[in-house]
Amino acid sequence: MEKIIISGGNPLRGTVEISGSKNAALPIIAATLLTSEPCTIRGVPNLSDIQFMCDILRWLSVKVTHHKTDGVIEIQAQHPLGVAPYELVRKMRASVCLLGPLLARLHNCKVSLPGGCVIGDRPIDQHLKGLKRLGADVLVENGYVHARCNELTGSDVFMGGRFGSTVLGTANVMMAAVLAKGTTWIEGAACEPEIEDLAIFLIKMGAKIKGAGSHILEIEGVEVLNGADHKVITDRIEAGTFMTAAAITNGDIEIKGAHAEHLCAVRDKLEESGVTVERANGTIRVKGNGDLKPVDVITMPYPGFPTDMQAQMSAVMTVTPGISVITEKVFPNRFMHISEMARLGADVSIEGSSAIVKGVKHLSGAPVMACDLRASAGLVLAGLCADGETEVNRIYHVDRGYERIDQKLRHLGAKIERVSE
Ligand code: EPU
Repeated sequence: MEKIIISGGNPLRGTVEISGSKNAALPIIAATLLTSEPCTIRGVPNLSDIQFMCDILRWLSVKVTHHKTDGVIEIQAQHPLGVAPYELVRKMRASVCLLGPLLARLHNCKVSLPGGCVIGDRPIDQHLKGLKRLGADVLVENGYVHARCNELTGSDVFMGGRFGSTVLGTANVMMAAVLAKGTTWIEGAACEPEIEDLAIFLIKMGAKIKGAGSHILEIEGVEVLNGADHKVITDRIEAGTFMTAAAITNGDIEIKGAHAEHLCAVRDKLEESGVTVERANGTIRVKGNGDLKPVDVITMPYPGFPTDMQAQMSAVMTVTPGISVITEKVFPNRFMHISEMARLGADVSIEGSSAIVKGVKHLSGAPVMACDLRASAGLVLAGLCADGETEVNRIYHVDRGYERIDQKLRHLGAKIERVSE
């Protein structure tokens, strides 16, 4: 197993290039199952989650060629199988988004239920409700979702649950509806940029979708879809993570390739905390001013402050003088990183779905354990500003969603190395 060792205290300076979005690429790779023609996906980050998705497609007898160094994946699903077993699905919850395309293409499929998740309860009731609205019979038995239909029929579907619109649920229903007979309206659709990017890819495949990126999608089903060539958007969460890296180290980072318009909520909170954020010529420049101010943050579905930035923002708050509060509205129990941050000297208490953070003067390095992807990013950030040496264990979590994070941080002046145990 590998770990990351950081000697904290260096302000990060320089330029970093943002990779393609994992959460856009995953459902787009699943969407290639909707056609027998070849598809080419570009700008795909080289991450373990992407490799898991490619492995599942290969297991389903799909031809997948992954040119890892170029970020290109060529996929052709001529005769896909319809069963995705637990051994593959358990590795990554996003594999649940195979359900919609497999059902639409084959009219009969079985996808294993993904299993536990450290960021909290992650039911798929909204996904199943949506597929049933399109006419599927859905049965959960022996750990599998078994969905079948004679044909899918357009309908109106509401995708807003207790914690807001479901992202992958919207993806699943949209991918099923593009091949359904008649028109589907998805109301309360997730409008995350990754869902908009999926809609753009589906439209390139010949799907008829109106309202991409909004809360109401109108989808007129077509009989067949064609192959398509698409470059995925860049990763707003990776970009946001580097923005917070500049804030926590009092650095000055130019972030290239990010879509600044996807990061308004993060920019807003960083500016409120006294950090300078400038947008120019396709870059975002984030500069610390040596003096952080406490802020209150509430995570919400897009365009609100992203839950996937909560751990990183919590890290910034741990060294912000005064009391900051961060409230988690999307995954109310997503605070596993807090007890590890306490090992570095952070003063945080959890009250329900809020973390009350009393800023300390200094964090001090210690061994910590990553427990999920964004939690591990938060711990790396804390380590970057802690005095002495921080050892982040189980960094396979970070490799699920950040391409070469240690190299990118080193390039910005961080003292960081990856070592094998
Ligand atoms: N929910 C339900 N019922 C459902 C589906 C969701 O109650 O049928 C609840 C969830 O329990 C949660 C909330 O609704 O409380 C939002 O969940 P959502 O379905 O939107 O999450 P997701 O689609 O499974 C994606 C991202 C996550 C990101 C969330 C929220 C991918 C592959 N995953 O998950 O990304 O946190 O949306 O924005 O796109 C990450 O990248 O680290 C990550 C966890």
